[in-house]
Amino acid sequence: MTEAAIHSLDHFTLEVPDLAEGARFFEAFGLDVREQHDRVELRSVGSSHLWGTLLGGSRKRLRSIRFGAFEKDMPALERKLRDCQMASPEPSSNGLWACTPDGLAVEVAVADKSSPASKSSFDLAPRFDASRGTGPRSRVAQVRPRRLAHLAIHTDDVQAAMDFYARLGIRLSDRSGNDVAFLHAPHGSDHHLIALGRSDGPGLHHSSWDVATIDEVGQGAAQMADAGYPRGWGVGRHVLGSNYFYYVRDPWGSWAEYSADMDFVAAGEIWPAADHPGEDSFFQWGPPPPEDFVTNHETMPA
Ligand SMILES: [Fe+2]
Repeated sequence: MTEAAIHSLDHFTLEVPDLAEGARFFEAFGLDVREQHDRVELRSVGSSHLWGTLLGGSRKRLRSIRFGAFEKDMPALERKLRDCQMASPEPSSNGLWACTPDGLAVEVAVADKSSPASKSSFDLAPRFDASRGTGPRSRVAQVRPRRLAHLAIHTDDVQAAMDFYARLGIRLSDRSGNDVAFLHAPHGSDHHLIALGRSDGPGLHHSSWDVATIDEVGQGAAQMADAGYPRGWGVGRHVLGSNYFYYVRDPWGSWAEYSADMDFVAAGEIWPAADHPGEDSFFQWGPPPPEDFVTNHETMPA
């Protein structure tokens, strides 16, 4: 019998100092962005699932993340979280709330499984037509990510954070010492739905969004540069998770990633988790990352 565990990364809430700028950034990124009176809602185009919410704040701050779980698993998850539960910071929430050792609010709530049931489709070289491999630039459509893939989170203690997420049944995929760890859910999920990076406290490093082709990774980079967001990293290919990537720097120093062809851990599969040297844990090819790529802007003095 599978141990009680969450099944999906369901939602994140991010405070930002300028909601209109946040809406502009994620709309350019290719999401379905809806501006409400006090918040901005982030969906993927054609989906009703609410992946992210931006709220106003004095500075950028990852306010909370929510995992989805099956109802049958909730009693066991509640027992496992008993000594780190916290009062709900959201009046409208009826989920179970807990606090990571370094202070990030995490909600577990009954939800439909939004993580994929099998590896997301990936087409390495879709042809334009029978003769031509690719078409004219003027025919390139806006890149529209299909779903939230994962969040990468700063933490002051990767092992302590791993121990916390283990209470939710979240398992190690791969790590590099205590510098970085990639975690998956056991009901079928990407190689990682949460990545942890060593820092001096909690914070959002990046949100990652799934696209179908490596062309879309590159087209996303061009799309964002055209929209006034030229700072980024990529195109490249990660080692752990195997995905092609391009990261766009958001207006507050964190990143939004176009990701394609992530490894998948099927339900019931035991992933060969390993501890990798730093050289083999970051990226296989691509340009060198920007100097501020791993800066945690949420713990910097105001
Ligand atoms: Fe990522």
